[in-house]
Parts: sequence; structure tokens; C-alpha cells
Amino acid sequence: MPHAAILAVASYLPERRLTNADLERLVDTSDEWIVSRTGICERHVAAPDESTSDLAAKAGAAALARAGVAPAEVDLLIVATSSPDMLFPATACLAARKMGLSCPAFDLSAACTGFIYAIGQATSAIESGRSRTVLVIGADVLTRLIDFTDRGTCILFGDGAGALVMRASEKPGVLGVHLGADGSGADLLSLRAGGSARPCSVEALRDGDNFIKMNGSEVFKFAVRQIPIVTRQALQESGLTVDDVTWLVPHQANTRITATVAERLGIPAARVVERIADVGNTSTASIPLALDALYTGGNLHAGDVLALVGFGAGLTWGAAIVTWTGEE
Ligand code: ACO
Repeated sequence: MPHAAILAVASYLPERRLTNADLERLVDTSDEWIVSRTGICERHVAAPDESTSDLAAKAGAAALARAGVAPAEVDLLIVATSSPDMLFPATACLAARKMGLSCPAFDLSAACTGFIYAIGQATSAIESGRSRTVLVIGADVLTRLIDFTDRGTCILFGDGAGALVMRASEKPGVLGVHLGADGSGADLLSLRAGGSARPCSVEALRDGDNFIKMNGSEVFKFAVRQIPIVTRQALQESGLTVDDVTWLVPHQANTRITATVAERLGIPAARVVERIADVGNTSTASIPLALDALYTGGNLHAGDVLALVGFGAGLTWGAAIVTWTGEE
């Protein structure tokens, strides 16, 4: 059975930045509150003519270029997103067109855990022999789905995309993936309008159901409880312990969540990747954005063991344990 290895990581951020000072002019908040409660200083916002498939295509093309893989070599594209360009066709198909890909392509919806779910799907496709080269993208433009009068959500989210090129390998890459979901927590974080349960209508817009609604403190408690559990489960299934982890790369939702999780796992801060201050919570893009920062900073080396861990709406959660085999 072939292993699934990561050849390259890359990311894309839109140019425009939205600072905490900008948000102070929109809602009753302060830079001091946002930084101390979340760790976020600014976030990037897609240009009016940019949508999720644009960000996805830019990150995907950058990852292919870094891996030295031609578009024709990709035989599966998975785009994890919670903010597709439209309900259909899939954002993956739109991004594929922009990248010149002609392989099977589909969207994966698992909110901020989407990137881990996508790594799981790509790994299965490679290990089964059905696919040799898989492009995995996490892309979100959540600023289009946010009520900029709701200070509980508008300070958190930013736009971005990140991508991995994964390929069949003789060397072990992805060692284990553990995923979970619990629909009983569905109401804690949702966007209600625009689907079959509540189609777009004047009433839906009047109720603000076209915007993300979140119970922040309950999501916080869920995250700090569930992330350590799923990380240990994935490590155990990979035959490893927390002492083997070179880098913990958690979903970047709140610096206090990351710190609590690291403490509960007993992983020192020096081995935890933080990439929230300049990008905010970018949902499915957050883990590859953090990984790309590690790579471009020269801090990712062959043989490093990565614990990539996500959580989000659904509720969903997941961890992937990976040995870095990509180019240094
Ligand atoms: N500025 C100033 N004050 C604020 C703001 C703000 N932006 N937001 C809330 N407050 C106030 C509240 O009104 C409240 O005031 P009160 O005590 O007078 O009632 C006080 O601050 C505390 O509010 P909490 O909601 O308890 O604040 P908390 O410390 O929990 O921080 C936050 C809120 C940042 C949202 C936090 O709960 C959080 O990060 N939760 C996790 C959210 C998350 O990760 N979501 C994404 C999941 S991934 C996905 O699937 C998209």
C-alpha cells in the first residue's frame, strides 16, 4: 500500500487589511479587548471582485509550483470551504478551471475542520491506489458572511487560502487521521439562510440569517475540551505520543484556545505554531496558512512530526499526524 506524503504547502492572502482600529470605528470594541481576548491584530479581506475560488486557485497554483507538479499530473482536487462561491457548481470546479486542472473536483464542508477532513479524504484516495497526486485546498471568504454590526463575530474572521500537494510515496507521510462530529451542537455556530431549510428570502434577510451566528463561549469550551482528546487519539493510532510532536499546528481561532490546548497536552509554547495575529480566524485556510508560515520561516525540516488539529461548526473536530517529507 502506498503512503500519502505532503510534497509542498503554499498559501494566498488578499491584499487589503482590516485592522482592529478599523473595527473600532464600526462596533463598540477596542484594540485592547480584541488583542487580549483573541490575539488578533488584523485580518485580510478579499477584494470586491475576488471570491473563494479565486483565493483557492491562487493558493493551489502556488503549491503546485512549489512542488514542481504540473496541473496535468493532479488527479483529484478537494476544496474545503464554508463560503463557496455559490451552492453549485462546486467551488472546486470553479478553482479547477482557473488552475487549468481537468481532474475530478469536489467541495468538502466541515467548517473549520474541513482541511483535516480533506487530508483524510486525500490520504484514503492515495492509500487505496485510486489517486496518485491530490491537491488539497482550504479557502474561505468569511468576511462576506459576517454581520459587521455584531461585535461578537466581526472581530474574529478573515479571508485566505492554503493548499497542500499530496502524493503517493514509499516513505510514510500521513501517519494517522482521526475525525469526529456531533450534530447535537449544530446550533452553536451556523449560517441558516441560503439552503433548502431556509431559502434566501426577504424574511431571512430581515432576520439576519444570511450571517454567521455563534455562541462564542460554548464553542470555546468545546474546543479546549475536544482538541486535546482528538490529538491524543490520532497520535495513539499513529503509534506516537505528544513527546514525539515537533510542531502542534492547531486551527487558529483564538490564541487563548491554542494556549489552553497546548497546556492540557503538555506541549511547550515553543513547539506550538501561532498564526493568528495578522490573519485572524480564516476557517479552513488557517491550518495551511500556519504551516506555510512555518515552512517559509525555515522552521520545517524533513522528519518533523506535525500534529494538525481542527475544530469547528457541526460540531466537527479532527487531527492528522504527519511526518514532513517535503522539500526544505
Ligand atoms: N469588544 C468588546 N467587548 C466584547 C466584544 C468585543 N468585540 N465581544 C464581546 N464582548 C463583551 C461581551 O458583550 C461580554 O460583556 P458582558 O460581560 O458585559 O456581557 C464580555 O465581552 C465577555 O463576552 P464573552 O462572549 O464571554 O467573551 P469571551 O471571552 O468568551 O470571548 C470570543 C468571546 C472571542 C468570541 C470567544 O468566546 C471565542 O473565541 N470563542 C471561540 C469562537 C470560535 O473559535 N469560533 C470559530 C470556530 S471555527 C468555525 O467553524 C468557523
